[in-house]
Amino acid sequence: MSLVDRDKAVVWHPYTQMKTAAPPLAIVRGQGVYLYTEDGRQLLDGISSWWVNIHGHSHPRLNQAIAEQAKKIEHVIFAGATHEPAVELAERLVGILPAGLTRIFYSDNGSTAVEVAIKLAVQYWQNAGKPDRRGIVALRHAYHGDTIGAMSVSEESVFTQPFAPLLFPVDRVHPGELEDHLKAHGQRIAAVIVEPMLQGAGGMIIWPAESLARVRELCYRHGVLMIADEVLTGFGRTGRMFACEHASVTPDIICLSKALTAGYLPMAVTAVTNAVYGAFLSDDRAKTFFHGHSFTANPLGCAVALASLDLFEEGNLLERIGRLERQLREGLSPLAALPAVADVRVIGGVGVVELRSDSGGYLDTIGPRLYEEFLARGILLRPLGNVLYFMPPYVITDAEVDWVVGCIGDVVKGLEARG
Ligand SMILES: Cc1ncc(COP(=O)(O)O)c(C=O)c1O
Repeated sequence: MSLVDRDKAVVWHPYTQMKTAAPPLAIVRGQGVYLYTEDGRQLLDGISSWWVNIHGHSHPRLNQAIAEQAKKIEHVIFAGATHEPAVELAERLVGILPAGLTRIFYSDNGSTAVEVAIKLAVQYWQNAGKPDRRGIVALRHAYHGDTIGAMSVSEESVFTQPFAPLLFPVDRVHPGELEDHLKAHGQRIAAVIVEPMLQGAGGMIIWPAESLARVRELCYRHGVLMIADEVLTGFGRTGRMFACEHASVTPDIICLSKALTAGYLPMAVTAVTNAVYGAFLSDDRAKTFFHGHSFTANPLGCAVALASLDLFEEGNLLERIGRLERQLREGLSPLAALPAVADVRVIGGVGVVELRSDSGGYLDTIGPRLYEEFLARGILLRPLGNVLYFMPPYVITDAEVDWVVGCIGDVVKGLEARG
């Protein structure tokens, strides 16, 4: 029996209508930017395996870091115990995060990093004696994950609709509406949560650094905490190590995951300022942050994250991402003139081609068609409905970028020829 047949008998895949979905790709191996299938195909990983991979697949240095760590300690409870990789990673992160983020809380995926951020924000105000400040403001088109809290702060969508009765109420605003909203309701707001510079799953929407700076300023003015969800944007995706740097802002709370471990292991961080941390220090045990996960600060995850930071620094990757950005901009911009294209936008290592569509949204049928067209050419791209994007690992070569950009042009023009 093939892997796909065995899979079909017992596995349930994420975001997948199991009745109608095409068989999954059976991946047997990865190397650099390429994935290899059981039936002998080579596919360029154009979405960094759900935005997590930055140094390529099966990188010898990262493999070695995990193997070495496994020989020492693979995992240990993180309440009442600590270990070298967790401490060193926290030290290294504090050194590179926007200045003022000084305390690292570990969890294990992007959604839990967001849950931690929301819970910290709400309890912060309770501990500070202002329990009425418990509202959360989120941006329109936001996506922060699939757990109940993360869904609550995400835009309402086909993802969240069945669970509407379970979600807590959240104020949703466009960045331009935030000032009026905080003027009217700031007193009951605990925090504003944003995806700095780039809203990912909500449609790869790039928003201006000035608006981000404005969010920071308004949060300060109204005494509201600012949460930056950098689960996607962290570790260079937008051309800076952290997207908050585009506006030189320090949020009160930041969420990291995905590329934190270079896409190797599920791990996340929620980092906070001294002021947030300080509100939890008390002789009153009820002010403790009672939150944790079995795999909190997993040593293997921390070890690979440390090795990933080494590669980042040694490879001068921010410069490499700058070159990638210029190449994407030059290559994709001409497509904006095509009638089928509504918009082309680029930030850092992310190139986006939004196609015109009648329905739009995640369920737009153009997405699966494009997915198949690119697979046939040896490229894994997974459009968000009518929003086609290319977000490769940084180890991609200039020639490979040219090739993918050329294929994107051909496929989009092909769509027009067929109508
Ligand atoms: C900005 C943002 N926050 C949170 C998440 C949730 O992360 P995870 O899928 O690891 O739960 C994602 C995932 O795509 C994301 O893009």
